[in-house]
Amino acid sequence: MEELRIFAPATVANLSCGFDVLGCCLESVGDEMTVRKNDLGKLQITKITGQDLPLEVGQNVAGVAVQALLDEFGSDEGFDIEIHKKIKPGSGIGSSAASSAGAVYAVNKLLGEPFDKTQLISFAMQGELLASGNAHADNVAPALMGGFSLVRSYCPLEVLALPVPEELRMVILHPLIEIKTRDSRSIIRQTVSLKSAINQWGNLASFISALYTSDYDLLGRSLVDEIVEPVRSILIPYFRELKTLSLECGALGFGISGSGPAVFAICKGDEVAINLKEEINTFYHQKGIDFELHVSKINKEGVKVL
Ligand code: HSE
Repeated sequence: MEELRIFAPATVANLSCGFDVLGCCLESVGDEMTVRKNDLGKLQITKITGQDLPLEVGQNVAGVAVQALLDEFGSDEGFDIEIHKKIKPGSGIGSSAASSAGAVYAVNKLLGEPFDKTQLISFAMQGELLASGNAHADNVAPALMGGFSLVRSYCPLEVLALPVPEELRMVILHPLIEIKTRDSRSIIRQTVSLKSAINQWGNLASFISALYTSDYDLLGRSLVDEIVEPVRSILIPYFRELKTLSLECGALGFGISGSGPAVFAICKGDEVAINLKEEINTFYHQKGIDFELHVSKINKEGVKVL
């Protein structure tokens, strides 16, 4: 195998109750990448379409993630990486994670799969470190594993795959303003009260339970974030109104996707999701804000070969 073309999916991190530890993978949005072996004995980013991003390996999230993998492998194999961006950087749906996860997945395959999923997550986290100053795994893990992922521990890294209730649908609204993860992390308070911590771990635990039991109402009640959302939501136009609209239209829950500005509404079934998409479309058009809007199933597969 000399060349692979892959789909690298978008992801929703945090899911309100699991800041930096919980995320899920989307089906209908993602980048495409082509990775091929070269005879030069070096890694290069040969082409990027769709966005203006650096080609230098050390400044590109896919470049640093693959370099981490190659350093560990001890290989002098060379690779060319082409990235066709469909996910806008600074959108909140894991743009950097898709590039990092997609690149390490493809290179690992071309090398004969020397590394397991957990190792690939740790390499891809180097891309997140470059992009945001923090090596979180809650986008790269679901991008690589599909479904819902829980980071039980960062040191040592341990990531769990969680079940996906069949009828879950995500409505994703991306207001076309850019919020850099690095910036939106810098505004979060560094300490949490015991009362908030108790509420938060109760909700995270019940969210996990709801995934195992397909208890959609419990899942919705668990989508609470009293730590990060109160601060970050200020940056998102009409966040409160969107949340009220979504819940009135029957969404199970609503929150910020990753570091925003994208927001998500989790719904049960296509009908609620498609109707909510229409309602949000009308609402945001009236406000005169440019946006993108998607309905997606939860992608159980993650990164895949095309
Ligand atoms: N957990 C990270 C954050 C995800 O919220 O900063 C970034 O997409």
